[in-house]
Amino acid sequence: MLSVENVSAGYGKISVLSEISIKLESNSILGVLGRNGMGKSTLIKVLSGLLTCHSGKIFLDNEDITDYPPHLRAQKKIATIVQGRGIFPRLKVVENLMLGKLLQTTVKKDRLDEVYSYFPILSERTGQVAGTLSGGEQQMLAIGRAIMSDPKIMLLDEPSDGIMPSLVKEIGTTLKSMSQKNNISLVVVEQNVPLIFSLTDRCIILEKGKIVVEGKKSEIQDSNIMKQYLAI
Ligand SMILES: Nc1ncnc2c1ncn2[C@@H]1O[C@H](COP(=O)(O)OP(=O)(O)O)[C@@H](O)[C@H]1O
Ligand SMILES: [Mg+2]
Repeated sequence: MLSVENVSAGYGKISVLSEISIKLESNSILGVLGRNGMGKSTLIKVLSGLLTCHSGKIFLDNEDITDYPPHLRAQKKIATIVQGRGIFPRLKVVENLMLGKLLQTTVKKDRLDEVYSYFPILSERTGQVAGTLSGGEQQMLAIGRAIMSDPKIMLLDEPSDGIMPSLVKEIGTTLKSMSQKNNISLVVVEQNVPLIFSLTDRCIILEKGKIVVEGKKSEIQDSNIMKQYLAI
């Protein structure tokens, strides 16, 4: 469905990602692991169109989207949840959610109810100014806004970042059931290895902008790999 072919990218002359190739099938979840500064967020930016590739190609269902800007990729049903969530803090919860479907021409009518069913706390806070939500609630709101856009692919950059452990578990469970129910594929960047392992069997590890390990949970659980690349 999404095919990344030999993509290199960076910031100006600084090269961060080199020769990244990824295949994301429909209805699948890919975990992206790696320590701080290894290029995980850069990869999410490249996939969402926030950063252009230096070289390489990105295809969505055989359509070359390498040069598509973020809003076109959003219209192609790729939703991005940036690190630090990126909600609109001064807007109300429900206003943030409605913005999720702004770029879309076709969105199921009952989407808002669906989001509230995943995250009941949001339905109790519809009129609350989003910036006053807790970190975990803001993450739920960001995911909810992405669901509102009826995506085929969701890109998540460290959804557990700054969230208390009990909520991390809840968000993980919801992400999994939501992706299965709606046939949404996920790319989940995380430093929280247990969260990734609860979501998926298929992971890559980034080290200095390169994919150094690609494999199943059982292979990555090998203690040497964990020690070498994840500092665990
Ligand atoms: N806007 C930027 N300009 C220049 N360098 C950046 C920028 N953002 C990130 N980098 C550099 O790119 C590398 C990878 O960063 P990043 O993708 O954010 O890593 P991660 O998300 O894995 O922690 C780091 O060396 C970082 O300093
Ligand atoms: Mg990051």
